[in-house]
Amino acid sequence: MEEFYSNIGRLNHIAIAVPNITKASNMWQKALGANVSKPQTLPEHGVKVVFVESPNTKVELLEPLNKNSPISKFLIKNPNGGMHHICYEVGDLKSASKKLKEVGATILGDGNPKIGAHGNPVIFLKPSDFSGTLIELEEIR
Ligand code: CO
Repeated sequence: MEEFYSNIGRLNHIAIAVPNITKASNMWQKALGANVSKPQTLPEHGVKVVFVESPNTKVELLEPLNKNSPISKFLIKNPNGGMHHICYEVGDLKSASKKLKEVGATILGDGNPKIGAHGNPVIFLKPSDFSGTLIELEEIR
C-alpha cells in the first residue's frame, strides 16, 4: 500500500522559466494554438505564472517577480529562458520521502514538504540525482 502511494503518477506540469511572460504567452498561443490562462502573480513564490493547457498535462511559464525569485539565478544562466523543472504527482509524500532517503536521493531544503503554487504539499529533488533535472513531487489526494 505504502509502496504504491510513494510511486510517481501523472506528470502534473512542466515549468519553464521565461524572461518575459507576455511575449512567451503570445508565442505559445499564436504559434502553437495553445490555450493560455491569464497571468497570476504569486508573491509568496516570487513568480508570475500562466498555465498552458494541453490534453495530457500543462506547461507553466514562470517569470520572476524580482531578483530574489527562486528562478532569477536560472534566468541569469539561461537568458532566453528554459525548462526549470518537471512535476509528478504522488499519493503520499511521506512514504515517497522515506523511499527517497532509503536509496540515498536528496530532498532539497530542510527535506520537509512546503505548500506549493497549487496549494498542495510539494518537495523538490536534487537535480544531480536525476540526470540534471529538477523534479518536483506534488501530493495529490
Ligand atoms: Co512546479
